[in-house]
Amino acid sequence: MPELEALLREERVFYPPEELVNRSNIKQFMDKHGIKSYEELLDRSKDLNWFWTEMAKEVGIEWFSEPKEIVSWEPPYVKWFVGAKYNIVHDALDKQAKLRRNKVAYIWEGEEGLERKITYGELYWEVNRLANALKELGIRKGDRVAIYLPMLPELPIAMLACAKIGAMHADVFSGFSPMALRDRINDSEAKLLITADGFYRRGGIIHLKEDADKALEDASSIEKVIVLERIGLKVPMREDRDHWWHEIVSKQPRECETEVMDANDPLFILYTSGTTGKPKGIIHAHAGYAVGVAATLKYVFDLKENDVWWCTADIGWITGHSYIVYGPLILGATSVMYCGAPDYPKPDRWWKIVEKYGVTVFYTAPTAIRMFMKLGDEWVEKHDLSSLRLLGSVGEPINPEAWLWFYKHVGKERCPIMDTWWQTETGHFIVTPLPITPLKPGSAVKPFPGIEADVFDDDGNSLARKNAGGYLVIKKPWPGMLRGIWRNPERYAKTYWEKFEGIYLTGDAARIDEDGYFWIQGRLDDVLNVAGHRIGNSEIESALVSHPAISEAAVVGKPHEVKGEAIVAFVVLKKGYKASEDLKSELREHVGKEIGKIARPDEIYFVPDLPKTRSGKIMRRLVKAKLTGGKIGDTSTLMNPESLILIEQVIERS
Ligand code: PRX
Repeated sequence: MPELEALLREERVFYPPEELVNRSNIKQFMDKHGIKSYEELLDRSKDLNWFWTEMAKEVGIEWFSEPKEIVSWEPPYVKWFVGAKYNIVHDALDKQAKLRRNKVAYIWEGEEGLERKITYGELYWEVNRLANALKELGIRKGDRVAIYLPMLPELPIAMLACAKIGAMHADVFSGFSPMALRDRINDSEAKLLITADGFYRRGGIIHLKEDADKALEDASSIEKVIVLERIGLKVPMREDRDHWWHEIVSKQPRECETEVMDANDPLFILYTSGTTGKPKGIIHAHAGYAVGVAATLKYVFDLKENDVWWCTADIGWITGHSYIVYGPLILGATSVMYCGAPDYPKPDRWWKIVEKYGVTVFYTAPTAIRMFMKLGDEWVEKHDLSSLRLLGSVGEPINPEAWLWFYKHVGKERCPIMDTWWQTETGHFIVTPLPITPLKPGSAVKPFPGIEADVFDDDGNSLARKNAGGYLVIKKPWPGMLRGIWRNPERYAKTYWEKFEGIYLTGDAARIDEDGYFWIQGRLDDVLNVAGHRIGNSEIESALVSHPAISEAAVVGKPHEVKGEAIVAFVVLKKGYKASEDLKSELREHVGKEIGKIARPDEIYFVPDLPKTRSGKIMRRLVKAKLTGGKIGDTSTLMNPESLILIEQVIERS
């Protein structure tokens, strides 16, 4: 494959079609301001006040009262659009219900083939009625509402209803286990939970309310539960606590006033994995986040009034929050939402959807692309995908092979691929191509205008254009920047701001080539990236040691063809327990129950001991090196070198 070889040497550059460039939103913005080139755009946008004021105007932000200051930066805390009164729901919904009342906001399809279309007008009534129901159940400004729903239109409705009355939503991915839900409820002290009876997945039924009930056995902050009837399951309802969505909502008025918030009031909490301890409750606020998600979507994915946008993520993750809910709604876009497995009943399900609804802009993850590559080209070739004009990727580095396949088979060599780098913490794209930039497969190109990212060496010197690996950092605040970790300011300061003062540490490694293009190299910490999602090694380890047979565990990642990283667990048995294949299966199921199926280890090794430092810390780096054949590096702090030899023997034997 000479083509691929060339790619690995980073020689190939793909240029966007001229027509796309000329008609792009970014080109129009540049023309309006007399900006002649991409470089000039990046340069001019260093004036943050000017650039983000313009962006707020461009995405049509309507303030209840104008900001007095654009950005106020007192590291590590930022405020955007200071002094303004605002509510994101005004731009995402109230305004749209007038401007685009009969335009479809969501085209929804269920796995069983059911189809629903919801206009902005309908969305508006539904959100208002649910918001009124929340008020009736005692929810007030500042309260937290946990949402545990699959990909149904009621999920954005629930989020918007919370935001409308000034409450914070804390979504929990519906694939997470009762225990994971319980921990997130307890940390956020949510007062109300919104869930559903159940849903279909790969032809089977997921009993969501049953799982929610398990979580609630030990989540005392929850006072009320709203249950959506999705598939008509008979579920136990606790009379003093549980309400059917349709019953409580049907009696509510269809108007509900939108709470006037401060621009910097919190909008939601979303949990994401860290290296140590429990997941971090990342806080995002109303106005900065609104401007950031809408502007990046408008200029990176070039959304126009007639586009049909499909972001295949689950709303339970940040990608769905920003680019299925808030971003597209603020732009008044039409989005596709699909609730089901991508390859069910056949491997062409997604391509069928693209063809059926005429999707024009399609945003997915490398893990999905690799899965479709494996399933065979014929499934995608069967369908007419000529409606597509732009593609996107997120979640993990996209390998050139997958990039090329996506480009060729899905985009038919017409559609540029926007490889967007960002995180739960950043709220929106940070390093990303624009439709006008030449692309190098595997590179996320450069920071979005108005964002200053860089790569530092250990001492904080810039490695820009040196093509040397280092710490990916962000040097200036950006609108969608996280506002903290819920009730944990120390962890916030330590995780992101301690290494380089006043500089945001992303936790990723990257290099910047001679042309200024960024190449993301993956996480620097022990957090795994499985199918584009961060999974904390510590969470899986603590799930493993909660099994009676296990005394210690180390979890590391290993490259995986489809998922990006496979989860590999090294466990030490307690006295009296024997290693066996049955026990391995049991442990996998145990982790599935504790955290969710996504966290189940792909491989488990029983080892007599784990390498540790003198202070007792497990040296996962060494375990990983043994597993993947990587460099062992410095072992001066290793207390028990013999453990490594034993691990090597166990790996060899299996
Ligand atoms: O390691 C990076 C990887 O995903 C991490 C963020 O994970 P999460 O907060 O779950 O959000 C995922 C969706 C935004 C990053 O620290 N990552 C995300 N996008 C890319 C990526 N790695 C390489 N290229 C990307 N485009």
